[in-house]
Amino acid sequence: MLVVLRALEREDLIVLHKWQNDEEIMRLARSFPDHVISKEALEAEFARELKGEDTGRRAYIIEEKSSNKPIGWATIRIHGFQRRNTTADVGLALGDKTAWNKKIAWNKGYGTETAKLLLDEVFRQLNLHRAEWWTFAENNVSVQLAKKLGFKEEARLRDAVFFDNRYHDMVVLGLLKQEFESIRAAAETSRDKTVSYLQSP
Ligand SMILES: CC(C)(COP(=O)(O)OP(=O)(O)OC[C@H]1O[C@@H](n2cnc3c(N)ncnc32)[C@H](O)[C@@H]1OP(=O)(O)O)[C@@H](O)C(=O)NCCC(=O)NCCS
Repeated sequence: MLVVLRALEREDLIVLHKWQNDEEIMRLARSFPDHVISKEALEAEFARELKGEDTGRRAYIIEEKSSNKPIGWATIRIHGFQRRNTTADVGLALGDKTAWNKKIAWNKGYGTETAKLLLDEVFRQLNLHRAEWWTFAENNVSVQLAKKLGFKEEARLRDAVFFDNRYHDMVVLGLLKQEFESIRAAAETSRDKTVSYLQSP
């Protein structure tokens, strides 16, 4: 395991404040390069999570397992507008660009592992039926990561966001619980085969 997801603590607001005022991170994470937020506003935004109140939004800190260092944040937002709660949006961002060269920190498998942990929570703990992944169309790494995990592109919302002086399409990707389970079963079968091959005399 490379990462763990843990609860957001008050002291994490310092690093979250830095990440959420970073143009490059916020362009990719929220299609919002000019995002600026004060410490006080950030604290107000996460007040309920910090108190442990269930808001239908779960916020996590992504921690690197070997160093216990926060390297990003992740969220699960359960849609509250349905008759029955069946769907959640998942989102993640690796914010740490100081400790390592960004190109090394991103692309080591941290994103894949974090997303798998989020999907475990969505499908195997919350027992939801659908996960959604939203990003602007040119965020290739995000789209490829979602597809690698089994998400299918379901919609393209034309000119849905405006930043950097032009409109951008949004892509909505979806993954159903049964698709997630069959991908997991296939991965477990191939892992079992590898283990038995390695163990054979
Ligand atoms: C998206 C993000 C979480 C991915 O994290 P990561 O640790 O770099 O991802 P991984 O190393 O696990 O790679 C995941 C996949 O991304 C894809 N990928 C990586 N680099 C890529 C590139 N330059 N172009 C296209 N796809 C790429 C590949 O499919 C890769 O899987 P593979 O290595 O098996 O081929 C990270 O880049 C990030 O935090 N970006 C900023 C915020 C953001 O875009 N969040 C997503 C918004 S929903």
